[in-house]
Amino acid sequence: MNGESAVRMQNETGTDHEVKVRFQNVSKHYGDVEVVHDVSFDIREGDFVSLVGPSGCGKTTMMNMLAGFVKPNSGEVLLEGKPVEGPGPDRGVMFQEYGVFPWLTVEKNIRFGLDLAIKRHIPKAERRQITEKYMSLMRLSDFRHAWPKNLSGGMRQRLALARAYAANPHFLLMDEPFGALDAQTRSDMHELLHQILQAERKTALLITHSVDEAIYLSSRVIVISARPSRIVESIDIPFGFPRDKSLLDSREFIDLRIHLREQVMKQYAEQQALR
Ligand SMILES: Nc1ncnc2c1ncn2[C@@H]1O[C@H](COP(=O)(O)OP(=O)(O)OP(=O)(O)O)[C@@H](O)[C@H]1O
Ligand SMILES: [Mg+2]
Repeated sequence: MNGESAVRMQNETGTDHEVKVRFQNVSKHYGDVEVVHDVSFDIREGDFVSLVGPSGCGKTTMMNMLAGFVKPNSGEVLLEGKPVEGPGPDRGVMFQEYGVFPWLTVEKNIRFGLDLAIKRHIPKAERRQITEKYMSLMRLSDFRHAWPKNLSGGMRQRLALARAYAANPHFLLMDEPFGALDAQTRSDMHELLHQILQAERKTALLITHSVDEAIYLSSRVIVISARPSRIVESIDIPFGFPRDKSLLDSREFIDLRIHLREQVMKQYAEQQALR
């Protein structure tokens, strides 16, 4: 397959009943600065959608609108057909700045979401077991009583991931969750995320600056323009799941990478010109 045929444009939002999230003509400005301009796209049940685009273009703002922390100035963000009114336990958010609670130890951070009233139906022993599982998967067991301020950046990021996964939200919203990790850990985290998504049908939105990461993890990659955010291209990734690392060396993967990098670099150059 060549680069062209690997790329399928999606120009229209879908109408099927599996639509989980719909950005409908969403615009957002802060004062005079327009950050998001008339963005429309859908996320269907089970989709893994990545947003790639230059720094400062408005990606976090878009995620915050879906998470319920920010409201659009016009248009709507619909979750299962209803406008997002605020945050909810159905959406597990992993913030760009780690999102761990500095006043809780590693273990208590991971348990946090599990101990909320909404999860109290899970027996205590099972909540403990889930906490142990993610603490161990993230190689944090030896640091269970440590405070976040005493962890490295990569450890804090792993803690934030453990916390988000342990709460088992249906919808994972992740803002550059792997940015502070070394290459090997990052690659381990990709495999772990694949496993979690295989085991439990989840829907995910990921923001990343890594084109490889976006392709490897996603069912769809959306390229965002320089500010204000618009959709430059939305590409269905033509690889099924499960995936393994050998995919990274395949001709189709390399073609997609070349195509996407080109698109993204153009937007980076435009964003640079804005400064
Ligand atoms: N609360 C706010 N008040 C004012 N301006 C804001 C606010 N939040 C974001 N902005 C501005 O909106 C623009 C987009 O910010 P946003 O954080 O969404 O970018 P981003 O694409 O996530 O960038 P990065 O890749 O660096 O994380 C920036 O110019 C930023 O300064
Ligand atoms: Mg951001």
